[in-house]
Amino acid sequence: MRAGFQTICRQLSTQSAERGKKWAGYSAMKYLIESKPSVIGLGSGSTIVYAIEYLKMHQTEFAKNVICIPTSFQTRHLILESRLNLGSLDRYPSINVTIDGADEVDERLNAIKGGGACLFQERLVAQASRKFIIVADERKKSKQLGTKWTKGVPVEVIPMALNTVQWQLKRIFPTSLIKLRMATPTDKAGPVVTDNGNLILDCHFGPISDPGALYKEIKCLSGVLDVGLFCNMAERAFFGDNDRENAGEM
Ligand code: 5RP
Repeated sequence: MRAGFQTICRQLSTQSAERGKKWAGYSAMKYLIESKPSVIGLGSGSTIVYAIEYLKMHQTEFAKNVICIPTSFQTRHLILESRLNLGSLDRYPSINVTIDGADEVDERLNAIKGGGACLFQERLVAQASRKFIIVADERKKSKQLGTKWTKGVPVEVIPMALNTVQWQLKRIFPTSLIKLRMATPTDKAGPVVTDNGNLILDCHFGPISDPGALYKEIKCLSGVLDVGLFCNMAERAFFGDNDRENAGEM
């Protein structure tokens, strides 16, 4: 009886989070289309799927012409499947605006990203963009990074450097909890391998008082390709309301 009730609660919470993601994705894409950019970056994850869905459904002339730069294999596939124009950073090193999801976002729009292990390409595309917009359901809003997202800060590491980077991280942050991200909870399928052939260390630091400083400290370790802390990058965020068909802006 109790298990049944818990299952229903879980289903309801998933449904309302899905509603939040949808309205965040739709509102951000609507806003983006209004500025008629010619080259856009598309982030990764489940919220971005809704932004792409909106692009497919509306403004057919715009959708026919706009060049879309993906941040992952997932998004590349979605762009092709939606018959949008696939571009690359080689051809379009400068992007008008990028929309991307996030795992936790503070009041200054600093974010933890990389829940889908795409952080490196996401940063490449974001840093090539004149504007960077975050989309998320409202549960991702946070007063302080590290207090809501329970899976830690992702750090993408080159495989041969895995043990030494893990050891260095433990030395610098003795109270942290660091875990190699596995493909399944049973560990049987082995570790998650990123689109770049690397591994992910999920690092739990507790509440993060200075995300910019933490990012720099980890990023300068040799063997680290990227860190899932995106600071001072986003200029706007759309948070989808989980209870109503609506999204708020920040
Ligand atoms: C992938 C990401 C995603 O944008 C982030 O994990 C949010 O995903 P979702 O929209 O599915 O909640 O950073 O690396």
